[in-house]
Amino acid sequence: MNVYLFGFMGTGKSTVGRLAAKEMGLDFVDMDKLIEEREGMSIKDIFQEKGEPFFRKLETELIKELVQRENILAATGGGVIKNQENVDLMQQSGCCICLNAAQEVILQRVSHSKNRPLLLGEDLMKQIQDLLNQRKALYAKIDHQVDTSVLSIQEVVQHVIALQSQHS
Ligand code: S3P
Repeated sequence: MNVYLFGFMGTGKSTVGRLAAKEMGLDFVDMDKLIEEREGMSIKDIFQEKGEPFFRKLETELIKELVQRENILAATGGGVIKNQENVDLMQQSGCCICLNAAQEVILQRVSHSKNRPLLLGEDLMKQIQDLLNQRKALYAKIDHQVDTSVLSIQEVVQHVIALQSQHS
C-alpha cells in the first residue's frame, strides 16, 4: 500500500512524510527533490529556464513511475492537484492524505524559502491567498484531510499513520 501526501506549500509534506515513512517502514520519496536530482537543477531554475509546463510534465511522468512501485510514501509538490490525471493515478494506487494549514501559518513556514518559484514576489500573503483560492476546491477533493495548523510534527505523523491504517 502506498501513501501520498498532498497539500499547499508549507503544510509539512516533506518533514512529516520522511518521519511517517520511517515509522511505517515505507520508502520515502520527496518528489521535488527527486526531480531536482534527476534534472541536476533546483526547482526554481527549472521554472525559470524551462518553464512551469515543463515542470508539470516531469511531475506527471514521475507520478506514473511511482504508482508502479509498492510500499512507498511520496510527498508530492503543492501543485500536483492542478492535474486531475495525477490525482486519479494516485487515488487508484494508495491512501491519499491532504495536509492543510491556515494562511498565517503557511506564511510563517514559507517566508524564508528561496526555492519556491510561485512565492517569490513582494506580497507573499497575497500570493498565498490567491493560489489557495484557486486551489482549495482541488485540495478538498482528496480523500483524507489533516489540519496541521496547531499540531506538532509528531502529531501530524500520528494522524497520517492512523489514516493509512484505516484506509481499505
Ligand atoms: C509548487 C509547490 C512546490 C514545488 C513547486 C510548485 C506549487 O512544492 O513543486 O515550487 O505549485 O504549489 P512544495 O509544495 O513541496 O513546496
